[in-house]
Amino acid sequence: RKRVGILISGRGSNMSALIAAAQAPDYPAEIVGVLSNRAAAAGLVTAAEHGIATASLAQSKFPSRDMFEDVMTQTLESWDVDYVCLAGFMRILGADFVNHWAGRMINIHPSLLPLYKGLDTHARALADGAATHGCTVHFVTPGLDEGAPILQAQVPVLPGDTPDSLAARVLVQEHRIYPEALRLLASGQIAALT
Ligand code: GAR
Repeated sequence: RKRVGILISGRGSNMSALIAAAQAPDYPAEIVGVLSNRAAAAGLVTAAEHGIATASLAQSKFPSRDMFEDVMTQTLESWDVDYVCLAGFMRILGADFVNHWAGRMINIHPSLLPLYKGLDTHARALADGAATHGCTVHFVTPGLDEGAPILQAQVPVLPGDTPDSLAARVLVQEHRIYPEALRLLASGQIAALT
């Protein structure tokens, strides 16, 4: 089984979906560590309850982003990970860190990329009057939310939707496609062209 580290900043519901999927004996990956850039991230508690190694690193305690990211890489490598999953990790990553993990790091983003890169995706889709919205799992490259997509899922935008109601509908699909995308990667069924 491939070894996977997850980076989070908060709730960690996608992290939980990956942990749950990896409990199946035929799943090709195991979650071996969870790293948060916020000590208060609820996901750290969940991971620890599952007996998974955890670490918390505050970027503000480091002299530079590069030094913070070097320690993130050292932490991930101390867990001997093959792949890194970003799951609600809300910091933009520098090119050196991203290139170090090229082809081995994936992210889930709450929009149908290339639409709505960045933040506030649900509110922006609603403001545009979009009829459909969704989520994307993609390889991470230095350009924000620009790497090759692996899987997407669509949901309808319904009359009366708010950013929260739309986010909840999308999140159900995130929890479905993220474990499936990691399965494809860890089993060697897909690879980045880098
Ligand atoms: C998820 O909706 C994820 O797609 C999004 O943050 C949420 C994290 O929730 N990620 C981004 O916006 C990345 N820019 P979770 O902590 O419960 O998985």
